[in-house]
Amino acid sequence: MTAVSELVLVETADGVRTLTVNRPEKLNALNSGVMADLERELDAAKHDAAVGVVIITGAGEKAFIAGADIGELAKLTPVDGREHALRGQAIVARLENLGKPVIAAINGYALGGGCELALACTIRIASENARFGQPEVKLGILPGYGGSQRLARLVGEGRAMQLCLTAEQIDAQEAWRIGLVNKVVPVGQAAGAAREMAKAILANGPIACRYVLDAIHRGLEMPLAEGLLLEATLFGLCAATSDMKEGMTAFLEKRPARFAGR
Ligand code: COA
Repeated sequence: MTAVSELVLVETADGVRTLTVNRPEKLNALNSGVMADLERELDAAKHDAAVGVVIITGAGEKAFIAGADIGELAKLTPVDGREHALRGQAIVARLENLGKPVIAAINGYALGGGCELALACTIRIASENARFGQPEVKLGILPGYGGSQRLARLVGEGRAMQLCLTAEQIDAQEAWRIGLVNKVVPVGQAAGAAREMAKAILANGPIACRYVLDAIHRGLEMPLAEGLLLEATLFGLCAATSDMKEGMTAFLEKRPARFAGR
């Protein structure tokens, strides 16, 4: 199934919903129209029981997302600027709080808001031509969609400082080396690799996968002792599911599990 809004293309197959930011002539820069459509489509994906994994990518050969739309940013007043950042942060946070894995298939430039959007995804797969950076300081601003916070959490304070202060771009291999992306694949294969990974995830217990998202994501916000308690509680909840029974029975019977998500 392929549906539209024209700024975000929506396709669903085998439990995987792919959202493609579709402004290739502007390197998929995030203008207010794209952000509104993303917000709506992320909400739709969250509440659609037929969707198990979401993939986000960019249209065309050159860019994932080359940042927030600079034409729009240039017009912001201080009051608008604060609202713009809060709204952008809230939309990007939807990726993190979707309750389903979100895989970024990064097929070119992931700069500014594009890098920030990728940072809020569960997993990042980059093609060899991907380039990453937080170039905001070149424009006299700082990252406003969560980059100063999530980048430091993912790759460490020193590397985040370097990227955000110098505005330098790094290539896919360097992004992989510092842990910014999970995997690098040949040009043209990022979306395919994301679908493969989605398939692997969807073969597993859906409730268990949802709890993994919570245990790791929420747990990182907690002191270790509280995170461990969260893990133990979710572990205990799994024992109440028919998925656990099915997973273990399937192993003992030497057959693939057929999870019902209950
Ligand atoms: N906002 C608005 N428009 C953008 C954009 C952005 N973030 N990034 C690219 N575009 C537009 C360009 O203005 C150009 O539009 P035009 O053809 O109407 O002039 C089109 O996309 C193609 O980009 P162009 O700059 O011609 O491509 P390039 O190959 O020479 O350079 C980049 C590619 C990514 C290096 C360059 O576009 C760039 O630096 N973009 C801005 C990145 C940025 O600072 N992002 C953070 C914003 S906070």
